[in-house]
Amino acid sequence: MAPRKKAAKAKTKTAAKESARKAVKLKAAKKPAAKAAASNGLPRPSSKPWGQAGRALDGVRILDFTHVQSGPTCTQLLAYMGADVIKVERPGVGDITRGQLRDVKGADSLYFTMLNGSKRSITIDSKHPRGKEILDRLVKTCDVLVENFAPGALDRMGLTFEHIHKLNPRMVVASVKGFGPGPYEDCKVYENVAQCAGGSASTTGFRDGPPLVTAAQIGDSGTGLHLALGIVSALYQRLRTGRGQRVLCAMQDGVLNLARVKLRDQQRLKAGPLTEYSQYGEGIPFGKATPRAGNDSGGGQPGWILKCKGWEDDPDAYVYFITQAPVWGAICDLIGKPEWKTDPNYATPPARLPRLRHIFDTIERWTLTKTKFEVMEICNKLDIPVGPILSMKELAEEPSLRATGTVVEVNHPTRGPYLTVGNPIKLSDSPADVRRSPLLGEHTDEILRQVLGYSAPQIAEIKASGAITAPDKPAKAEAA
Ligand code: COA
Repeated sequence: MAPRKKAAKAKTKTAAKESARKAVKLKAAKKPAAKAAASNGLPRPSSKPWGQAGRALDGVRILDFTHVQSGPTCTQLLAYMGADVIKVERPGVGDITRGQLRDVKGADSLYFTMLNGSKRSITIDSKHPRGKEILDRLVKTCDVLVENFAPGALDRMGLTFEHIHKLNPRMVVASVKGFGPGPYEDCKVYENVAQCAGGSASTTGFRDGPPLVTAAQIGDSGTGLHLALGIVSALYQRLRTGRGQRVLCAMQDGVLNLARVKLRDQQRLKAGPLTEYSQYGEGIPFGKATPRAGNDSGGGQPGWILKCKGWEDDPDAYVYFITQAPVWGAICDLIGKPEWKTDPNYATPPARLPRLRHIFDTIERWTLTKTKFEVMEICNKLDIPVGPILSMKELAEEPSLRATGTVVEVNHPTRGPYLTVGNPIKLSDSPADVRRSPLLGEHTDEILRQVLGYSAPQIAEIKASGAITAPDKPAKAEAA
């Protein structure tokens, strides 16, 4: 077949596929009306076996303009749920994390691979006129645009909300920024800046030490999770309104949301000392703001981290022990202090509050005689809530996490097998779709052809224009 004819045929095929996709979407939208009377506007319950009725976000296409961690966390989760996530990257460079903290020479870093699974990658220079044209076509065909550029960067690319909304009024435009509107709205923000500005650092650590950041990425991954909920909600509202909207998650807001119990304590300070903080039992006065509470539990049931057998050599031989009131009697028997059950200084939770340090020191004398797993086994039989301090090594090797798909091994063409965290949200009718991350631009041709309907000669011409290929001497994104 002559190349031109071939291209025309491919174009017709692509257009047919695209209109079939739209028809399926339309059908899905029209169906409820037909069966509304019997089922509150919902289609009849599927008779397919659980897990075989597709994935939760099948049919949703995401234009993924995210980079580093916060945005990629969000779009990876949506991809796990079944969305078709098209990650747009700068030709020759890509997401900067591809080259950061590299452990295998020449291969994408684990930083990148663990945040970009189940996505497709297309390279487009968003500032090139032809690149802009391709992006406009993508805007028309996608349901959601997600980005976490520095403030103003998307507008500078010409992708203002007004422009996007004109091209595709149904599109949801979702952004992560460091701060919401206010004095810091133009600032660039990374994880630890958000932890500090969102109230986490000032309330983490020990009273006599400096503020501490936490290892859990509550600024980046936490905000990505918030954004995913915002996107799904906006898509749900779109079913009624027919139009998309902006979704904004500021990292400061996300961190504060996760640290809300500390804002609770800030307000409680007006009523007197925070009696569940061990500082109260130690007779140390409270200041004007919520203090750092070390390993205090932060809830109504006091807890602390205690040493276990082997702590001298193993930095993780510890257990979190909670002196939950209903099992106080069992705790007293276990640690050889049965008299505390009736002693007025220990028998009730308020009586115990000023003595927490002494109580936990006494419990520790017992935990020191057991491994953290023995403590777990003994205490759980007695309904005493405890938690072993698990290392990343232990988590990586834990069979039950592999069995549930929370830790998944995937294969990668240049780095080989690697571990990633699968979908932590389990849906009973939507199996998680956890696949390896894409190579830079791996799906460029496929997306231009299948999604956007460009013909082979057109793709060749686009390549020659420099809109999707790296300049002669590409900037290196080597290890930071
Ligand atoms: N083609 C051409 N240019 C592209 C491109 C593409 N495909 N993709 C990105 N760029 C350009 C952007 O347009 C921008 O250019 P401009 O500043 O000239 O307009 C440039 O790349 C850099 O984007 P920027 O977001 O400023 O990256 P940065 O590395 O300087 O800053 C952050 C990184 C994370 C600090 C910043 O993006 C940020 O504050 N984001 C919001 C908060 C956030 O998500 N932080 C957490 C990150 S885990």
